[in-house]
Amino acid sequence: MLMCMFAKQTNGACIKPKAISERKLEMGKGIFILGTDTDVGKTFITAGINYILNKNNFRCCSFKPVQTGAFTFSGCRISGDMKFVKEMCSIEEDYVNMNSYCFIKEVSPHIAAELEDVRIDTKKIINDFNALKENYDYVIVEGAGGLIVPIIRNEYYMYDMIKDLNLSAILVSRAGIGTINHTSLTWEFAKSKGIDIKGIIVNGYNGLYYEDDNVDVIKSITGVPVISVMPKVKTDNTDDFIKQVQLQYEKNINIDEILKIFG
Ligand SMILES: Nc1ncnc2c1ncn2[C@@H]1O[C@H](COP(=O)(O)OP(=O)(O)O)[C@@H](O)[C@H]1O
Ligand SMILES: [Mg+2]
Repeated sequence: MLMCMFAKQTNGACIKPKAISERKLEMGKGIFILGTDTDVGKTFITAGINYILNKNNFRCCSFKPVQTGAFTFSGCRISGDMKFVKEMCSIEEDYVNMNSYCFIKEVSPHIAAELEDVRIDTKKIINDFNALKENYDYVIVEGAGGLIVPIIRNEYYMYDMIKDLNLSAILVSRAGIGTINHTSLTWEFAKSKGIDIKGIIVNGYNGLYYEDDNVDVIKSITGVPVISVMPKVKTDNTDDFIKQVQLQYEKNINIDEILKIFG
């Protein structure tokens, strides 16, 4: 069941508790999960990386700085992406610490913020991220959409945020038709902005010959290692879906590859 234990603010967001966790560790490491587009599987892969880290006894948490398309539960805003991650692995962090901003409209962050008359404070995003890093070994940061998504109109984009958070990235790409172009363009643009894509994860693989070729061509164009090819999981039953997905995480995400990327 979803729980929101904190006092409500008038805009439906929840007041942040003082302490994120009782345990203090050395400052953790972060990675940015970048997508070629929306719906490519950033959340799905974010959950997988968390799952594999958890399985190997690392403390990890997800952070989605700006969520749009949130739903409300008991008067609190809940991020669907963070709910998915929590369902897939045992992250106990409160929702309120897993987003800096959580907007209702499912549109680009800059419009979602404007619609609620909110000015996004980029320092708050950095502070929230650092607060999580103090309490976890690894923090997996999920973007919204792709690299050139505006966060503040005409001012601040997803790529600015990645730079401000001082993060390298894993690029999540589709397996199917169109992916060579989208993946290569994202990689080129990331390079031009000084963002280091350490690995590519190809998601939604159906075992088709041209998907295998896509992987080969992407490797040869970018020179970036493809660290996982994640199959499309097909089932209608929710409980079975979670089990099937976890099984695929175990089969297709290698802990050593992930730790290498964190450096
Ligand atoms: N490999 C996969 N197998 C089955 N379903 C997937 C897979 N990857 C993503 N999905 C589903 O596709 C939808 C979009 O994926 P999501 O991770 O939310 O994309 P993004 O975060 O990039 O917008 C979600 O319903 C997700 O559960
Ligand atoms: Mg997502």
